[in-house]
Amino acid sequence: MEIQAKVGDLIPLAPVAAQYNDELARRMLETAVEYKELRMMYACAIKEVQTKFEVLNTEFNILYKRNPISSMSTRLKSSSSIIEKLHRKGLGFSLENLEDRIQDIAGIRIICSYVDDIYTLAEALTSQDDITLVEKKDYIANPKPNGYRSLHLIISVPVFFSQQKREMKVEVQIRTIAMDFWASLEHQIKYKREIPDQENIVAKLKACADDIARIDREMMDIHRQLEASENKEQEEDSLLSMLRKLDTPIS
Ligand code: GTP
Ligand code: MG
Repeated sequence: MEIQAKVGDLIPLAPVAAQYNDELARRMLETAVEYKELRMMYACAIKEVQTKFEVLNTEFNILYKRNPISSMSTRLKSSSSIIEKLHRKGLGFSLENLEDRIQDIAGIRIICSYVDDIYTLAEALTSQDDITLVEKKDYIANPKPNGYRSLHLIISVPVFFSQQKREMKVEVQIRTIAMDFWASLEHQIKYKREIPDQENIVAKLKACADDIARIDREMMDIHRQLEASENKEQEEDSLLSMLRKLDTPIS
């Protein structure tokens, strides 16, 4: 009874929904030991994928003297969000349902400066022979009606533990700085109960998304032009200055 009251407090929803969620939460608590172990495995899968992106960033830095990744963030889905998602999908709580049906328990978001880096990184990751591509949603080529743009991948990565090897799913979202700026503002709408002049705000956001897509393309074009002229300058460099460039620090 005490647990029920606590869980109800944690997830304040309509009475029927709250009852359903209480049931899911109770099942989750019953399997607490195994559930925590599963969360640990997802956390380790995040580390594996994060390292893969760090390696790619370091390699690019040396080969092309630039970092394709502007920033990276990771998150392990909270237990209350997992319950909310199981509820939304009409699923009961079981560890099998979590692993098979919830694909974004482990999440990593990669922010790039330029659109072509998004595809370069996605290709470099998914062509690694230990990575399996489970699902790909290209919301850049096919933006959502609200204007949302981003490349989403669900991948599976093997993680080695002391007694076993487990294939774990990780959701990877790759977007530009501008797309991320837009998504964080748009995300605020989801947490507002009442939005004044909603229609106008939605239309303005859609217009901003289109402007951002255009600016992203133009910035990438300028960047490509600059890179081409830098390469030309490099060909004309003296031997001594070329030698100095070999000493670039490797971070
Ligand atoms: P769920 O994962 O069940 O939400 O549905 P799905 O698997 O069809 O999701 P999808 O791959 O379309 O999106 C997954 C994640 O992308 C969300 O949890 C958000 O983080 C992000 N996302 C998707 N659509 C939007 C959007 O319209 N606006 C913002 N701000 N983020 C979005
Ligand atoms: Mg999803």
